[in-house]
Amino acid sequence: MTILNAPKIFIVMRKLLLKKTLAELNKQADSENNGLKRHLSAMNLTLLGVGCVIGAGIFVLTGTAAQMHAGPAVALSFIVSAFGCLLAGLCYAEFASMIPVSGSAYTYGYATMGEFVAWIIGWDLILEYLFGSATVAVGWSGYVTSFLKDWGINLPASISQSPFVYDHSGWHTTGAIVNFPAIFIILIMTALLVIGIKESAKFNNAIVLVKVIVILLFIGFGISHIDVQNWTPFIPENTGVWGQYGWSGILTGAGVVFFAYIGFDAVSTMSQEAKNPKRDMPMAILSSLVICTVLYIGVSLTLTGIVNYKDLNVSAPIALAIDRAGASLVWLRPIIKVGAIAGLSSVVLVLLLGQSRIFYAMSSDGLLWKSFSKTHKKFKTPHIATLVTGAFAAFFAGIFPIGLLGELVSIGTLLAFVIVCVGILILRKTEPNAPRPFKTPWVPLVPILGALVCFAQMASLPTDTWVRLIIWMFIGFVIYFTYGRKHSHARKRSKK
Ligand code: ALA
Repeated sequence: MTILNAPKIFIVMRKLLLKKTLAELNKQADSENNGLKRHLSAMNLTLLGVGCVIGAGIFVLTGTAAQMHAGPAVALSFIVSAFGCLLAGLCYAEFASMIPVSGSAYTYGYATMGEFVAWIIGWDLILEYLFGSATVAVGWSGYVTSFLKDWGINLPASISQSPFVYDHSGWHTTGAIVNFPAIFIILIMTALLVIGIKESAKFNNAIVLVKVIVILLFIGFGISHIDVQNWTPFIPENTGVWGQYGWSGILTGAGVVFFAYIGFDAVSTMSQEAKNPKRDMPMAILSSLVICTVLYIGVSLTLTGIVNYKDLNVSAPIALAIDRAGASLVWLRPIIKVGAIAGLSSVVLVLLLGQSRIFYAMSSDGLLWKSFSKTHKKFKTPHIATLVTGAFAAFFAGIFPIGLLGELVSIGTLLAFVIVCVGILILRKTEPNAPRPFKTPWVPLVPILGALVCFAQMASLPTDTWVRLIIWMFIGFVIYFTYGRKHSHARKRSKK
């Protein structure tokens, strides 16, 4: 049967499944004139990963997860969540070493499952990066407001909180006009990113060190204030409701603290700017994940050891633990807050950076408007993609509450992880002999388990979040079928 007399549906399917070959992608990586400079070392990349990972999750959400779901066993939630990330991370690492170009899971999807799935992933990654940066900016605003308050400066609630909140009974207004500090941090970071990746990487390295030191100080000085009574029982008995303590609480807690790990995959969006992507990408992805897991377990044990988990549902749980530790640790309080503020700033930076590179990759393929892949003559950065990212992130950060944004980010990211795991299975079949500088171990076990663990975490998120994901995807389909499909470079090539 020739393509001419094939039923129309098959022609449409074939076009939707158009793939980029590995050869095409590697040519893209080698091309001299793609505009982006290669100057990120393995160390820079690992620090970018850690910079993106440690943020609102550990500084804000640990307390919530302990108080509402897992109790002191929130440390186990961190282990469960890290397990899913590790499995997905191993799959990401194989892709990142084989396909060292911008675009992360989006590009991997293009190579394995074709243009339409790539679009779904790219659109879905916007939830992770763009909405993620907005979420962390809202967390930043909370810490800054509290820090200023300690120094006698009271920012009015009307300009430092979200105008809306969302709970089980629906949407409510708070009386606030806009979350100004959240907008402020997004705009500052956007400006930094337009100026240049090298400058941004240096800024990030300095900040990452600060936040790791602050976390180590908390663990080091907090440890002697732990009261083991607070750990007894370590796994509080389930109340009879799924997700409220017991083993189901640990699982739901894992879904909540998953947000704390988001970002290690951001490293893979920067392949095109890495000096030696084939060796350094997998190393950076895995080492940033391991470093963060160890720190998280340390923080959660110290936190629940100092403060009883029942008191931990506050916006700055680590600062609360310092207060409870008594007068001997008062000096640590401002240091922790400054560290958290600096830490959250670097997460905003890396997430915005990741988003602008996703736009860059999608636009280079013709799926989004051409201007998104233009690079600035002097700064060599995709300035238009960066500015558009900044404008949208600032808008969302200015009006939406942290909980709503955070859940959307988690579901979007988990979906991307599932698709990446499945992608490895496909690529092993379709390109069995392609060079793989890093190979995911124990295939098919690792990708299958990775996809299952991540999907289970998606399933533990509320129905409302699923509805928002579906609406978001619907908007994406409209853009794809009215613009992306018509302008796709792969489709144009296939017609020649
Ligand atoms: N993992 C990042 C954070 O916790 C997104 O802020």
